[in-house]
Amino acid sequence: MSTPRSMLETGFDVEKVREDFPVLKQTIHAKPLVYLDSAATAQKPFVVIDAIRKFHEVDCANIHRGVHELSQRSTAAYEETRGKAKRFLNARSRSEVIFVRGTTEGINLVASTWGRQNVSKGDEIIISALEHHSNIVPWQMLCEEKDATLRVIPMNDRGELILEEYEKLLGPRTRLVAVGHVSNALGTINPVRAIVDMAHGVGALALIDGAQAAPHMKIDVGLLDADFYTFSGHKVFGPTGIGVLYGKAKLLDAMPPYQGGGDMIRTVTFEKTTYNEVPYKFEAGTPNIAGGIGMGAALDYVTNLGLDRIAAYEHELLVYGTQLLSRIPGLRMIGTAREKAAVLSFVIDGIHPHDIGTVLDRMGIAVRTGHHCAQPVMDWFRIPATTRASLAFYNTTSELDALADGLRKVKEVFG
Ligand code: ALA
Repeated sequence: MSTPRSMLETGFDVEKVREDFPVLKQTIHAKPLVYLDSAATAQKPFVVIDAIRKFHEVDCANIHRGVHELSQRSTAAYEETRGKAKRFLNARSRSEVIFVRGTTEGINLVASTWGRQNVSKGDEIIISALEHHSNIVPWQMLCEEKDATLRVIPMNDRGELILEEYEKLLGPRTRLVAVGHVSNALGTINPVRAIVDMAHGVGALALIDGAQAAPHMKIDVGLLDADFYTFSGHKVFGPTGIGVLYGKAKLLDAMPPYQGGGDMIRTVTFEKTTYNEVPYKFEAGTPNIAGGIGMGAALDYVTNLGLDRIAAYEHELLVYGTQLLSRIPGLRMIGTAREKAAVLSFVIDGIHPHDIGTVLDRMGIAVRTGHHCAQPVMDWFRIPATTRASLAFYNTTSELDALADGLRKVKEVFG
């Protein structure tokens, strides 16, 4: 039995919100779609779809390059998103907002520019045991190139970082600490303000990977004091191929450019090129204009819905789902942090996650199975994979009931 909406204390009107998401109104294998894979990519509301369509139908032109009306309109719409992202993150200035393809590119940009300039032989970079590959591999590549050392903050059995161990890793050679705000595989919400402060205490910088946080909670880079913060548009209900890297202005000013090409230059001769000011110095080539405009609509959408309300409702879903799944014999939750976002990652004795995912799909239930691009997390728990139900504010308690029923069916099939 699902919990009647009135029993959920936040009173979040999920049925009304669901009307905004056309993709949710379909059947899969003749069953209503239950979409529980929002950590992989979130679904898009009409306002995002309409904004992208309007750009292509009415305003389409290249930006920063034309005096004609369409180019002026496109430029204004794209640049408006920069202002929206500034407000979304509470950055001090629009020039602290760099458009990138997504979180992965945001991290790679910092590793390739700030990292190449500031990391030398014998230096250390700290990441955590919870990271997904995008926040591991760029630092590994940098450390290999510079003969620097990568250190890893360990976690406990609940999937929480051990700050006492982190403290021991910090030292005069630490140049940068890069951690996820929220773990994609486990849902752990990291104490990022404390992590940033501790990094600053030894003179290191801190980069926060906000891919899994930005869709679920209010972000304030000023309060966090993060030097860099990055997130992806497609996980905040916008399109793929666009995201944001925030950086403190004085750091961005001092960093070399990322890629060479149009828009990042001021003047070019065959002898010498001078570079544009930030943020354009980091934005070579024609960008994902439609994506930027779509992401702007998505940021407006979640801001209007209210990130505090979203967080409160999703917490209710998390509590409800955790209780439901804990009643299934043989099911073990992977990731039981005390501070947790709405991610339910689990294993079931004797049944491979891919089999679970396949049977659930036949019931219209979309979950992700596998290592979730976080193989070291799986290795730590000594498992090859989990089944992960990752929630968003458009999910309902009835959908969690459907998941629990589906898992009972899986057990019947493989039991
Ligand atoms: N990082 C994304 C996920 O967790 C793709 O599924």
